[in-house]
Amino acid sequence: MGALDGQIVVLTGAAAGIGRSVVARYVSEGASVVAVDISDRVHDLADTLGPAVVPVVTDVATWEGNQIAADAALERWGRIDVFVGNAGITDSARPLEDIPGNVLPTAFNELFGVNVLAPLLGVRACLDALIASRGNIILTGSFASTNAAGGGPLYTASKHAVHGLIRQLAYELAPDVRVNGVAPGVAPTRLRGTSALGQESANSVLEGTDTALPLQAVAPTDAYDSIFTTLASRHDSAAMTGTLVTADSGLAVRGIARPGGRVPVRPR
Ligand SMILES: NC(=O)c1ccc[n+]([C@@H]2O[C@H](COP(=O)([O-])OP(=O)(O)OC[C@H]3O[C@@H](n4cnc5c(N)ncnc54)[C@H](O)[C@@H]3O)[C@@H](O)[C@H]2O)c1
Repeated sequence: MGALDGQIVVLTGAAAGIGRSVVARYVSEGASVVAVDISDRVHDLADTLGPAVVPVVTDVATWEGNQIAADAALERWGRIDVFVGNAGITDSARPLEDIPGNVLPTAFNELFGVNVLAPLLGVRACLDALIASRGNIILTGSFASTNAAGGGPLYTASKHAVHGLIRQLAYELAPDVRVNGVAPGVAPTRLRGTSALGQESANSVLEGTDTALPLQAVAPTDAYDSIFTTLASRHDSAAMTGTLVTADSGLAVRGIARPGGRVPVRPR
């Protein structure tokens, strides 16, 4: 018996990285998933995982895109138990002084459109079904949800906003729908950049990151699967709502002279 037997999930950002790995885990735990992404790579995910996955290629920064995703779950399975708002883009840590003022509004709208508006739209599109099923919501935050320097000002502000959404929606939707989040530190993926800033996709792991982490290694992309599974489970996280679960390889407790107390001092 799987932790998510019979659960119907709508998950955004499913084509790559953390989301793709979570979809595979959810299916192995007995869930059926509408896998939503702007990339058509969700089709090969469905080919690999079989009929438990319905791929939807759409832009989640639009209302229509989220309606299509929610409708796909309702048409196929008649219910939604879990919405996972995971799609995201980065600003590649671009500092404010390197963003021309006339570009800032477009860049802000693009990045906040995916990182903040999209999860709101996704929750709204799935809301009636989630209330009916007494389901739950998981949003992907970041180390940047509670700290500086996990991105530039646009990304950091957007992920702080995700934390705000988790807390506000957990309040608004209690007792019917639980709302939690996952805050990864560094995962070895290629996040899309902000096109208004002239960015394409970039390696999420900057050079030297592994030695800067207290745990001294970048964890694999599937290191977050079990947290997403626990939060989606009606039983395993029954007491959790309004929580942002941090999995940051120790970043938040990093020391000044060396990242961890037992990390050997390197010769200068
Ligand atoms: N990789 C990291 O180090 C890291 C750290 C903290 C938080 N995160 C967060 O984890 C989440 C997943 O990122 P990832 O690292 O797996 O990157 P990823 O690029 O591999 O996955 C993100 C997915 O979102 C999709 N997407 C982007 N814009 C979209 C849109 N408008 N409509 C539909 N889909 C869209 C992309 O196509 C991609 O498949 C993001 O919210 C990211 O901010 C990542």
